[in-house]
Parts: sequence; C-alpha cells; structure tokens
Amino acid sequence: MTEYEQYYLSPARQLTDAEQELVWKKPLSHKVSEEERRICKEVKRNWNRGEMKIANILLEGDAGSGKTQLAKALSANFGLPYTKVTCFADMDKSDIIGAILPVISSERLEKLEPAERTALKAIYDSDGFQSITES
Ligand SMILES: Nc1ncnc2c1ncn2[C@@H]1O[C@H](COP(=O)(O)OP(=O)(O)OP(=O)(O)O)[C@@H](O)[C@H]1O
Ligand SMILES: [Mg+2]
Repeated sequence: MTEYEQYYLSPARQLTDAEQELVWKKPLSHKVSEEERRICKEVKRNWNRGEMKIANILLEGDAGSGKTQLAKALSANFGLPYTKVTCFADMDKSDIIGAILPVISSERLEKLEPAERTALKAIYDSDGFQSITES
C-alpha cells in the first residue's frame, strides 16, 4: 500500500468520472506536514465509528500558512473529490447541500392552477435544477 492509499476512506466507493476529476493529485512540491498525517489518521480511525465520525474540520492559520493546500491534500489522501464554496451574505444551507424539489408528471402539471404551474416551470427552468437533474 502506498502512503497515498492508506487513508482512502471508502475504497469500495466507485467515483463517477466527474468526481474522479476532482480528486486532487499532489504535486511533487507538496510537503506532508505532521498536521496532515495526524488529521488523516484520526479521520480514518473514526470513519466507521458512528457518532465519532469526523465530517468537518476547521482550519485556522495565517494567510499563506497552507490551509487550502491542506484541504486539497486531504482530498488526495482520502480519495475524495475536492471542491470549494464561496460564502455570501444571504447564503442558505440549500446552497451547499441542495434541496429536494417536487417532480410532477406532465399530466398532473396540466391540471395545476396557472400560478402553481408558472412557479414550478420557473423552478424546472432554473439553472440550478437543470444542473441537478442532468448530472
Ligand atoms: N504542504 C505544502 N507543501 C508545499 N507547498 C505548500 C504547502 N502548503 C502550502 N503550500 C504553498 O504555500 C502557498 C500558500 O498556501 P495556501 O494557499 O494553502 O495558504 P492558505 O492558508 O490557504 O492562505 P489564505 O489564508 O490566504 O487562503 C501556496 O502557494 C501553496 O502551494
Ligand atoms: Mg486559502
């Protein structure tokens, strides 16, 4: 086993091509810190321990101290996709975790009130919903 694979969190999980693309590959210039090793060990150790599972990590450090690079390195070590979200003022949790929207057959759609139909159509036509249903 390479140093890389020992921390894969869900080796049996089959990533899609799109997800695989997002798994960070460490450049040769990457230096593994003590913190990186410690975090990986602890997350891996607790991964299948129910409530002990570590799903969130808060990194605190000066500008340029390596927080972003560490987050990317965790992607490589865990074998999970790396992505980032930029926060904004009226952000909602659904901006990160998504939302469950109604799926209504075209026959039922026909029978709805015009106002409801317009609202649903707007949801379906919006970028967000398209990108969810297409992926
Ligand atoms: N472990 C590492 N090995 C090699 N280079 C690193 C490492 N960590 C960080 N660097 C390099 O140092 C620079 C700053 O790192 P990074 O962007 O991760 O800092 P940051 O803490 O996220 O900063 P900011 O708070 O400004 O977002 C980058 O060019 C990055 O590639
Ligand atoms: Mg950063």
